[in-house]
Amino acid sequence: MTLDANEFLARMTKRTGFSEADKSLLKNNADWGLTIAPDMADAFYAYLGRDEEMDAILNATEGRVHRLRETFVQWFYEMFTGMDEWGTDYADRRWRIGLIHVKVGIGPQHVVPAMATVMAEVGKRLKADGKADNLRDALSRSCMVDLAFIEQAYIEVTATAVLKETGWTEGLFRRLIATGAATMA
Ligand code: HEM
Repeated sequence: MTLDANEFLARMTKRTGFSEADKSLLKNNADWGLTIAPDMADAFYAYLGRDEEMDAILNATEGRVHRLRETFVQWFYEMFTGMDEWGTDYADRRWRIGLIHVKVGIGPQHVVPAMATVMAEVGKRLKADGKADNLRDALSRSCMVDLAFIEQAYIEVTATAVLKETGWTEGLFRRLIATGAATMA
């Protein structure tokens, strides 16, 4: 199970309805995005820090919070620029961000509310700065694409590790999951 980041990006773009008009709107507001990015980073890490479990992950290694603040600002700006027109670089970067979160033990239960927090904070700022609703919608769709990458990384890494360790086929693995879910439901 190796994910093709480009193909996944294309599929998620279609699924979320993230359009060319959304991309243009984001690019036109990239300077604004960069201006508010540090405030968004502050709000984001304050939110994570209020959760005992996530706070422990954030402070597990020296300098992590500091590094994260910078990478968040960069990430946030890329939401507006799309890096290479939402091409291969963008897809690879989003896939890598997903993998890094899996590596440091962050699961879907952490990431979903965290992305909702990003959207809520941006929403407040959009309103305060008199930005139109369609910019919020564009950003929201883009955040959902990114969220899908982080979520998918979790299952891809898990499945790949199990298949490698056990030698099972993907078909068998999927059947076991379906059977397991049926017995738990
Ligand atoms: C909206 C969701 C999130 C976004 C957009 C985001 C963004 C990022 C980015 C851009 C990186 C840097 C990746 C790299 O080094 O290439 C990163 C790493 C990391 N993130 Fe997140 N993150 C999110 C959710 C979370 C949550 C919920 C936690 C929980 C504590 C978390 C903790 C971390 C940690 C520990 C790292 C690795 C830091 C290191 O370099 O040591 N992130 N994140």
